[in-house]
Amino acid sequence: MSKKLANDELTSTDQQAAKPSSNTLGRRSFMKRLGLGAAVLPAGAIITSATRARADNGRLSEGDVSILRFLAAAEILETDLWQQYTELALGNPSFQQALITLDGDMPTYVNQNTRDEFTHQNFINAYLMSKGEKPVNLEPFRKLPSSQATGANKTAKRLTNLMNLTVDTSWFLRYRLSGNPDFGDTFAQIVNLDNVSAIPNADLPPPTDVNFGFQIQFIANVAGFHFATIEQGGSSLYQSFLPKASNLEVLKIVGAIGGTEIMHFQTWQDKAGNAPMLMDNHGNTIFPQLPIAPDPAPDGIDHSAPNDTNQIMPAPCKFISTHLPLCSVIRPISTAQAGAKAAVMGLTASGLFNGQSKDFFNLLAHLAEEADEAERER
Ligand SMILES: [Fe+2]
Ligand SMILES: [Fe+2]
Repeated sequence: MSKKLANDELTSTDQQAAKPSSNTLGRRSFMKRLGLGAAVLPAGAIITSATRARADNGRLSEGDVSILRFLAAAEILETDLWQQYTELALGNPSFQQALITLDGDMPTYVNQNTRDEFTHQNFINAYLMSKGEKPVNLEPFRKLPSSQATGANKTAKRLTNLMNLTVDTSWFLRYRLSGNPDFGDTFAQIVNLDNVSAIPNADLPPPTDVNFGFQIQFIANVAGFHFATIEQGGSSLYQSFLPKASNLEVLKIVGAIGGTEIMHFQTWQDKAGNAPMLMDNHGNTIFPQLPIAPDPAPDGIDHSAPNDTNQIMPAPCKFISTHLPLCSVIRPISTAQAGAKAAVMGLTASGLFNGQSKDFFNLLAHLAEEADEAERER
């Protein structure tokens, strides 16, 4: 990690991330290595002076701070990508028209989603400061270029890259079938979107253009799926932290902001199903025909229509135990599948951070590790 970043922007905890691995282990890792769990230690025996082992004097526990610091970083990154989308959804006529092909409300909903993300990042950082904790600041990493299409703030620097995305669309079938990644189930992609752009980088003909309209429509289709991909990840991430938060106020924050991520996902998964089939001007299919709604052969009982684009409520799936009935829930929610490290891995693999520095990935990895290690303190 560069000296400049470590001195200017990172907390002492973050600075430790740059040191050899023995220094990166938090209190819980240390206790785990000793084979000690917090629950077996007598009151007062928990290491005190060098750590914030428990919330006292109004301070948050180490685990709660770690959860909130990772969420602040995630929200800053979400805000950055949504800001790029909203500039083009509102300011690029061709992109806007292509989004409207999916649903007339798309541009306005993109704007609303962006507004929500600003409030999430601002609130979590303000809350951290109100508890005497340092806010998360990713500004030193704001170095990636903007789209050069009309509507984009062309000279702005970005944290995220929407131009070379590999979009994981497996949520489409995951939410329509009874499997659950927390039980080891995997799901196929409904559309293969590999190394594609979700925003235009130059002005393109409108989707109605008979020869080249498919270009901007393809980008809008990618964006339509990426919106849902991002928000389902956020929905699962927040759920993974619910059993870890100690302070009731932190629990409220995780529950209530997490709830809006679910609202976002639900909206976008409905719209994504409207993405039209596309052919290039040589007659090659470049975006497949999605399953027609309603599904021609629903069984009408449980996960009746796995491909139905109108089957947007979460189909009942395995939950807690296979000995219990199927249940309609957010999935996955485990730390392994939905936690901070899983989120960073998924976002990195998607290409969202293409062009980012090693320091950026180091910081994100450190924040994620600390957050996933958080445990509820009784
Ligand atoms: Fe958010
Ligand atoms: Fe979100």
